[in-house]
Amino acid sequence: MIVKTEIPRQPEPIHAPDWSAVRRDFPALAVEVYGKPLAYLDNAATAHKPQSVIDAIVRHYTESNANIHRGSHYLSQKATDEYENARKTVAQFIGASDREIIFTRGATESVNLAAATFGRRFLDTGDEIVVSEMEHHSNIVPWQMLCKEKGAKLRIIPVSDSGELITDNLEAFLGNRTKLVALTHVSNSLGTINPVREIVAAARERGIATLLDGAQAVPHLPVNIRELGCDFYAFSGHKLYAPSGIGVLFVSKRLIDELPPYQTGGGMIRRVTLERSTFDDAPGRFEAGTPNIEGAIGLAAAIEYVQFIGISHIAAREQELLGYANKKLADVPGLKIYGEATEKASVISFTLGDIHPHDVGSFLDREGVAARAGHHCNQPLWSRFGVPATTRASMAFYNTESEIDALVEGLQAAVSFFS
Ligand code: ALA
Repeated sequence: MIVKTEIPRQPEPIHAPDWSAVRRDFPALAVEVYGKPLAYLDNAATAHKPQSVIDAIVRHYTESNANIHRGSHYLSQKATDEYENARKTVAQFIGASDREIIFTRGATESVNLAAATFGRRFLDTGDEIVVSEMEHHSNIVPWQMLCKEKGAKLRIIPVSDSGELITDNLEAFLGNRTKLVALTHVSNSLGTINPVREIVAAARERGIATLLDGAQAVPHLPVNIRELGCDFYAFSGHKLYAPSGIGVLFVSKRLIDELPPYQTGGGMIRRVTLERSTFDDAPGRFEAGTPNIEGAIGLAAAIEYVQFIGISHIAAREQELLGYANKKLADVPGLKIYGEATEKASVISFTLGDIHPHDVGSFLDREGVAARAGHHCNQPLWSRFGVPATTRASMAFYNTESEIDALVEGLQAAVSFFS
């Protein structure tokens, strides 16, 4: 039973919250590691969950667990309403309508869904898809596979030394064989906030479809789909303080009814005979099988939490932390930062002299500092910069200046230890 009215976009609170009180909403931040306080600086990999999200999941299993869209009994109706209300909460959060929101397993599945359906319907031999050198593997590999299958070509927008897209000759990428431009909104390794609005507008003027990978944007910036104007927008719940295993693909209403199904089976059909099947309307047509019901409910609770704090306040607090970290890291000998875009989210990838990033990561871990070391699913990007890996510190609004101090002290100790 789907109530058709949409939830209006929630107003931003006027004042920023007390950040030290906010921190207490996240029980996992109180964990000790090796007898030291945890400094969790791996938020680009996944974020911690506020108590309200944990409670929403427990409440769902305690009070309304049932399968959805299938039963006429009380619990099934209740679970269906919660799931569909979660869709509306997501829709209002990004300025979309609930018919345009498909629940997936995460941003990776969202891109794969877009590649499977859009590719099947619109891509022909000789067509082109444009991505960039800074894409996460999940926004490269599905398009590579599709191009191989269809005899299409993948074209790559390069990245500058400062970690920005080189868009001077963007028109050269937007030819009459270009079917799709698929770009990250915010880079998971460099933190660069890309000028996606301008790029989407240029593509749209030429009738080219656009997909934005918003996995690293939605938790950190206000995102309004109508202002961006894209056809697809993908993101994950787990980076947005929600459970893992739930994600979103927004598909614009001008496109969603044109797309064939993705996975098939129960829950997405209208009528099945042994000879043929007809399919449900969107978005149900793209959600075969029993979905991650508690994940969607947890995602809605996470969005409500973020809106209670205010996404603009979150963005401003994270910029403060980024500025503080940049200033303090300048004192660490031999530290080189990759990604110095003017518009940048709170992600800092770096190398430390010739110490291997994995050694840096392990050293920091013993100091209680959780940072990620590796290629961060950006191998083409690191080839461009000529390094195999980096260490990455990524901050969320609940981090503190003293956690950044712990990072800096850990790095200084690593320099002494390894020299
Ligand atoms: N995509 C996630 C990251 O950048 C996992 O760490």
